[in-house]
Amino acid sequence: MTRDVTPADLTITPRDRRFGRDAHTARWWMGGDPVATAFYNALSATFPKGEGFFVESVRKFREGAPPKLAAEIRAFTTQEVMHSREHVQFNRRALEAGYDLAPLEEQVERRLAFTRSKPPIVSLAATMCLEHFTAILANQLLRNPRHLDRADAESAALWRWHAIEEIEHKGVAYDTWQHATRGISRGKRWKIKAKVMLFVTRNFIVDRSRGTLELLRQDGITGPRAWSRMIWFAWVRPGMLRKVFGAWLAFFLPGFHPWNHDDRALIARAESDYDAARMPVAAATA
Ligand SMILES: [Fe+2]
Ligand SMILES: [Fe+2]
Repeated sequence: MTRDVTPADLTITPRDRRFGRDAHTARWWMGGDPVATAFYNALSATFPKGEGFFVESVRKFREGAPPKLAAEIRAFTTQEVMHSREHVQFNRRALEAGYDLAPLEEQVERRLAFTRSKPPIVSLAATMCLEHFTAILANQLLRNPRHLDRADAESAALWRWHAIEEIEHKGVAYDTWQHATRGISRGKRWKIKAKVMLFVTRNFIVDRSRGTLELLRQDGITGPRAWSRMIWFAWVRPGMLRKVFGAWLAFFLPGFHPWNHDDRALIARAESDYDAARMPVAAATA
């Protein structure tokens, strides 16, 4: 089904949940696999600063937004703030397990400083692109149970919760961008967003690869062994980046909107799995 707007009946619901507060998270929480662990830890290391930047970038354009969009911006903000809170905790557990995430955080800081030095519309465009990226990764994470099947229960629950809400608010930065650039021709708008998408994708892949390699280095895995294992994991098996390539490409189609692909059924399924996992007694006696 094709649509070019956020569904009118979409509700963005911040779910105030906490994960792993009392749990001990193993250093290689992803089934004892240092490569899989490094891949997700490298992503998580970027979230607190990255999501803070997304919120700040979108909120600069909330003035004059139609009421529905204004309400969505508020819900988006609440969701991202809670994601950061939980990923700060998750990252703390990585520190306790012996990782130093500072080099990864400094890399994010450098990228953000560069983007912040440009006009605010550039930050909004970058946010819109990264939110598409996040939403397609989230879709893949929920769609394919293989990605998290080796994770410990609390970590898996955290990543699924985050994925649900990323899908739910995937149209917010996009709609804010559409609203902010409504005076610009479609052709020019397309050119800007295509250029920014290519730029942020290049940076995303380079930076997350560097981050993953840095964490593997801290595990004593270096050189071609580290490279080849990382590339295999990211691009071949389970191949998260390869699997989202088609959805990434869709961004460049004329008439693209994040909700052209309605994946609310995926959210509903993940939510009922979550409820079942959190209420084993109720589920067993139901
Ligand atoms: Fe988030
Ligand atoms: Fe987001």
